[in-house]
Amino acid sequence: MGVYIPKFDRSNIEKHLIMLGSPIGVPSYAFSNWGIIGDELNLRAMSEQRYESEWKAGSPRQMQYVSDAIKEAGYTDFPDMIRNATAKKVSELMQNYISRVNIIDVGAGLSTVKIFDGLKENDKDRVHLTLLEPSQERGENAAKELDKRGLKRDKNYRVIVGKDLEIPGYLEPESQNIVTAVATIHHHAYLDMPFRVIYDVLGKGGYFITADWHNSMWESPHRVYDFLKEFDWPGKEKDLKNFEKAYLIGKEKPPLLNDAEEKTNEMIRAFWRGWIKVRKRAKEKGEFDPRDDIWLLEGHRPHERYIDEMIRTGFRLDGVYQIMDDSKLLMRLTGKK
Ligand SMILES: C[S@@+](CC[C@H](N)C(=O)[O-])C[C@H]1O[C@@H](n2cnc3c(N)ncnc32)[C@H](O)[C@@H]1O
Repeated sequence: MGVYIPKFDRSNIEKHLIMLGSPIGVPSYAFSNWGIIGDELNLRAMSEQRYESEWKAGSPRQMQYVSDAIKEAGYTDFPDMIRNATAKKVSELMQNYISRVNIIDVGAGLSTVKIFDGLKENDKDRVHLTLLEPSQERGENAAKELDKRGLKRDKNYRVIVGKDLEIPGYLEPESQNIVTAVATIHHHAYLDMPFRVIYDVLGKGGYFITADWHNSMWESPHRVYDFLKEFDWPGKEKDLKNFEKAYLIGKEKPPLLNDAEEKTNEMIRAFWRGWIKVRKRAKEKGEFDPRDDIWLLEGHRPHERYIDEMIRTGFRLDGVYQIMDDSKLLMRLTGKK
């Protein structure tokens, strides 16, 4: 069987307001909410392809705009908060090792630099960093920062232009002590394969740290529809009508959320409101490059889903850390092999 995705023309919304991206990017367990059905192998391939198109071209300025959008929403720098939380955990875990430690940062970039900077001085010369990143430019920018700190390419660190599912093609099984993924895992609809390759590349006793943004906004077309209704753009009425028709809005409501879940969703909506303003301003100034865009319908999900998948993969859960006092939006999870 092929794949069926309800037909919806996103182009007008994407031109005027925001890149939605195909719903094939949402968590796989929510495909049915979006009317997506089909052969699993094809669904997996299509969702991976969707992410590849978004990230291969990713520009360095993209992350700056993300930070700007967060500030625009009135929050502190979330991307930096999850990098710092990861760096702190890595620095602590280093104390479990006496010799050289191999660390791979999956979805590398500023996070890798933060991880290095966060190490104790006497640990800095006993790490080997692998920067795995689909965007060559982003990987190279991080490499330049490591060079400035005196690290030598191919001795102290290595850059691989690629994605997590390709790890087995680049690295020996059980060759790493620590895998970090900072805001990377949500670029998958299915988590089982990325978690499996991460598990396999870790030696026994190795650690997997993911720090990510968690919410349930994109699980449901109704939530997306209610969010879109907040904005104005030319052709809004027609777009919303088509959205209603394609995703059967009004037929069945998504389950109600508890206060904590609603809070994470409100925070992510606030981020996207900020993003829409930042994007609009940059466009008006003629500064916005299509490569700077990020897409709405991604694989974010409540953190419990990551925990379930970690355990299914064979990890022992070694830490659940809520990065902000008052919300479960940003969570750092550690699994031990
Ligand atoms: C939100 S950015 C975070 C980058 C970096 N970790 C940081 O904190 O600065 C997510 C990164 O994941 C990368 N990415 C997306 N899909 C990936 C995949 N399947 N495997 C590895 N990296 C991926 C993107 O190219 C992007 O650089």
